[in-house]
Amino acid sequence: MTALAVLTAAGSGVRLGCDGPKALAVVAGRTVLDRAAEGLAAAGVSALVVTAPESELERFRSVLPGHVPSRPEVPVVLVAGGASRQASVAAGLEAVPEAAELAGVELGEDTPVLVHDAARCLTPPEVVGRVVAAVEAGSVAVVPGIPVTDTLKEVERAGTSAPEGGSVLRVVGTPSRSRLRAVQTPQGFRWAVLLRAHEHGRALALQESTAATDDAALVEALGLPVDLVEGDRRSLKITTRSDLLLAEMLLGPDPD
Ligand code: C5P
Repeated sequence: MTALAVLTAAGSGVRLGCDGPKALAVVAGRTVLDRAAEGLAAAGVSALVVTAPESELERFRSVLPGHVPSRPEVPVVLVAGGASRQASVAAGLEAVPEAAELAGVELGEDTPVLVHDAARCLTPPEVVGRVVAAVEAGSVAVVPGIPVTDTLKEVERAGTSAPEGGSVLRVVGTPSRSRLRAVQTPQGFRWAVLLRAHEHGRALALQESTAATDDAALVEALGLPVDLVEGDRRSLKITTRSDLLLAEMLLGPDPD
């Protein structure tokens, strides 16, 4: 496999209830950041660009000192992230040529480039492999996804208030569950397409409220096809305290 990755890790730890960035939260003895970087390297990714909160670059460097700790041959370029995930990815893309050069990889228009959330630090290597293989086989953009177990409703504001406070929403549709997938990362793209999609959607990145929550949506906005491969339930996104506990349970008892 020849693939490069942008690992997004510039988010805060507010919803997780931790003081610092979520990527520095510890899951069963190791940081989310370390686990996510090691996971991509173990799957065969050649080099990583990691987005960090600007004020945390030094702490991130102590976890990833220019390369993936157990794999000195996998270089890591750290960059400061932006105000939204989309802005962070855009900042990361600027450093992909440097990461490719450090790894001795020739970066061509069709080279597979992944975008992965550090928060999904338990993603099995097979998922990374499936995504890269699909790009290599000709897909323009690929997302891993899993069937949804909840019934999902589309809602609108109903204009009334609940007696106990909060708002009442009006259900306007029930999409068929068989046609829905919950999508995960890493998402994989041909390098030239990922660049073009971010360039096209640049104006949206300025605010969290308008920014794209995944990169595939930016490719869809270009009118290009996005393909879906099988994801994995272990690829959960650690967002809240209960996700962290579930991740620790999935990792099993600490051998120490
Ligand atoms: O906040 P959420 O968990 O949805 O963020 C998804 C991923 O994007 C996380 O790994 C987070 O660190 C990253 N992120 C980022 N820059 C931001 C916001 C989130 O790199 N401004």
